[in-house]
Amino acid sequence: MRSLPEPWRVKVVEKIHLLPREERERLLRDGGYSLFKIPSEAVYIDLFTDSGTSAMSDWQWAGLMQGDEAYAGARNFFHLRSAIQDIFGFPHFLPVHQGRVAENLLFSTLLTRPGMIVPSNNHFDTTRANIETNQGVALDLVIPEGKDPNANHPFKGNMDLERLRRLFEETPRESIPLCMLTLTNNSGGGQPVALANVRATSEMCREFGIPFYIDACRFAENAWFIKTREAGQENRQVAEIVREVFSYADGCTMSAKKDGLANIGGFLASRNEELLETLTQRLIVIEGFPTYGGLAGRDLEAVARGLREVLDENYLRYRIGQVAAFGDKLTGLGIPIMRPTGGHAVYIDAKALLPHIPALQFPAQALSVALYREGGVRGVEIGTVMYASIDPETGKDLPAPMELVRLAIPRRVFTNSHLDYVAEILEHIRDHRDELRGLRMVYAPKVLRHFTATFEELVDEPVAV
Ligand code: F0G
Repeated sequence: MRSLPEPWRVKVVEKIHLLPREERERLLRDGGYSLFKIPSEAVYIDLFTDSGTSAMSDWQWAGLMQGDEAYAGARNFFHLRSAIQDIFGFPHFLPVHQGRVAENLLFSTLLTRPGMIVPSNNHFDTTRANIETNQGVALDLVIPEGKDPNANHPFKGNMDLERLRRLFEETPRESIPLCMLTLTNNSGGGQPVALANVRATSEMCREFGIPFYIDACRFAENAWFIKTREAGQENRQVAEIVREVFSYADGCTMSAKKDGLANIGGFLASRNEELLETLTQRLIVIEGFPTYGGLAGRDLEAVARGLREVLDENYLRYRIGQVAAFGDKLTGLGIPIMRPTGGHAVYIDAKALLPHIPALQFPAQALSVALYREGGVRGVEIGTVMYASIDPETGKDLPAPMELVRLAIPRRVFTNSHLDYVAEILEHIRDHRDELRGLRMVYAPKVLRHFTATFEELVDEPVAV
């Protein structure tokens, strides 16, 4: 597929440069082969995350100048309220400084005793962590196709409705305080959820009296997939699809660092006024007064404008097209990726690319290191470093189900020629893949170890473990 040119022209630029190879080598060594330890200025093309990394438009920057920094009742709060009412149809919301605070507020209030279960298609890490730190169980019920990198399904983020029904039938109602759906399904490869699946999940929740919330981070990208992949939706406006999706939900958590096209911000919306009243008290303690929620007035304005702007269909066509074209290019070069491509990232299958590196020598981490070493490109490992489980008998690591490197594409930041460069680096790595070696973990904390783990490169022939 031919990629579309950018539907904007450039007004401001930010310099990036490629450090000499010896410098990149030194930074890798000094940072224990952790990409988290590399300073951003030493990265040439940074595909670590699409979160908080969007380029804002001239309209958003103009809005920053109209930030009202009053403690209470800033005008930008009302602008954001109108945007949320118009776009999602939720009458009430609480602003927060990023998505995980919305999760914290919700779960610390609704998980009233240990062992309560929160089902979702796939919980994102922070959602899971917020459920687990409140002694809940975060249950992933994505359809089986969602777990297979090669399964071809238009909506690999869908909820498995049969398993959800079984859970609802077998569990006392009071043990399931809410059910969620993540749009798009980040932990499952940025895969979308169909409108019919959102509706059916909502109806099932209603049947069993369970509140239904959406993790809305990438709501516009999800709606674009509905428009382009779901029968009967092709002639609708994205804005109309979004309204329908959220009409089925009792509320949502949102990180505006994604489809809010902002560098910071988020919110929690709910139709349950009593719940919001309780959460407001907590918000005041942990974030700030409910008309700013941990944000400056100017940030609220950037989010209010970003939420409207992200619905521009020329933008969405370009955005999803850019990710798809990048994925197609890699496939053409014989680089194995999760297919079809999702909304915000391409996921390289390191297990398939580097079959000679055993899982416990971290093939996806080795590939991330090679991307930086060869081209100053930064991606993130989503494999055994991040998701190993522990063997209860030996206490040793068990490999994660997949070894992926996520190349997340920030919104409106990189052109197709930047991505062509990344493809060339991967092509070079493909040609020299037999020379790549695994790693040995030399330091790892017990919780969320991928953030701070460090490694040594193995120099000998890899041995089977
Ligand atoms: N939900 C999803 C689906 C996310 O992808 C993220 C963040 C959050 C919630 C939390 O939002 O960062 O504003 O607190 N994802 C980022 C990523 C970090 O790189 O995928 P936050």
